[in-house]
Amino acid sequence: MFDGSNKEQTSDKGSVSYAEGEDFIHIENLSKIYKRDDSETVAIEDFSINIKKGELISIVGPSGCGKTTILRMIAGLLEPTSGTITVAGHPCDKPGPDRGMVFQDFALMPWRSVIKNVELGMEMAGVPKEERRKRAEEYISIVGLEKFKDARINELSGGMKQRVGIARALVNHPDVLLMDEPFGALDAQTRNLMQAGLIKILDKTDQTIIFITHSVDEAVYLSDRIVVLTKRPAKIKEIIEIPWPRPRDRASPDFTALRKHILDELEKENVLDD
Ligand SMILES: Nc1ncnc2c1ncn2[C@@H]1O[C@H](COP(=O)(O)OP(=O)(O)OP(=O)(O)O)[C@@H](O)[C@H]1O
Ligand SMILES: [Mg+2]
Repeated sequence: MFDGSNKEQTSDKGSVSYAEGEDFIHIENLSKIYKRDDSETVAIEDFSINIKKGELISIVGPSGCGKTTILRMIAGLLEPTSGTITVAGHPCDKPGPDRGMVFQDFALMPWRSVIKNVELGMEMAGVPKEERRKRAEEYISIVGLEKFKDARINELSGGMKQRVGIARALVNHPDVLLMDEPFGALDAQTRNLMQAGLIKILDKTDQTIIFITHSVDEAVYLSDRIVVLTKRPAKIKEIIEIPWPRPRDRASPDFTALRKHILDELEKENVLDD
């Protein structure tokens, strides 16, 4: 699965193009306070990070601390209370095709075929039919679903649906792929296959990814850096750089030690996950 020979990801939607490893996403002093009637929930407080082109950043933190809130602000679906976010130099004040989203619950159109789901964004952007089809087929092949391109979504397994979701996001060549617990609904074996598939995509492209997960093991397996958040209001507790090449050996002493360190940190925030 996830095989293919595609390489380049375009990122120069504006006038500037970015090389792999260059600072690409800037988040500065981000905060979010949800207000309802006379009550307030402070979800995010003073969150700042620069993310490089081609990096995979995971965000881990206690349930309800504000992870999805951060992702929705980057997606332009939610307005920050204060602070700024730019991706490739562009502010994120509304949703756009430069930021692709992959959700835990797939968010696909069940009555449409695989290829029609992957084509949807391009269809809305007015990409001509032939080009649409060609690009959709290329990404369906990257996620290993060639044989199922004409199948309806409701005929697919959970793992296959999630691969359609990933192809649908990647096909638009987003500057950043925003993934909110994308493998959370899958069984352990399928989840491992999806992680391996994502690593292949990272090898073949310079896709920048922000990845939210409850699984510390998954974060250590996949990430260039892991952002550990405190309980709500979420602040950055620690940012951990992982220089090891992928794929990683989950049984290695380094891997297990880092995993334990993060779990210990999260436990201090009262979490029981993983
Ligand atoms: N639309 C909203 N209106 C009011 N409060 C909200 C809204 N969305 C989220 N919240 C609150 O903000 C806080 C953070 O929520 P968020 O969904 O970002 O957390 P999370 O870290 O993604 O949680 P989980 O790990 O359970 O997915 C929670 O206390 C939640 O109740
Ligand atoms: Mg969430």
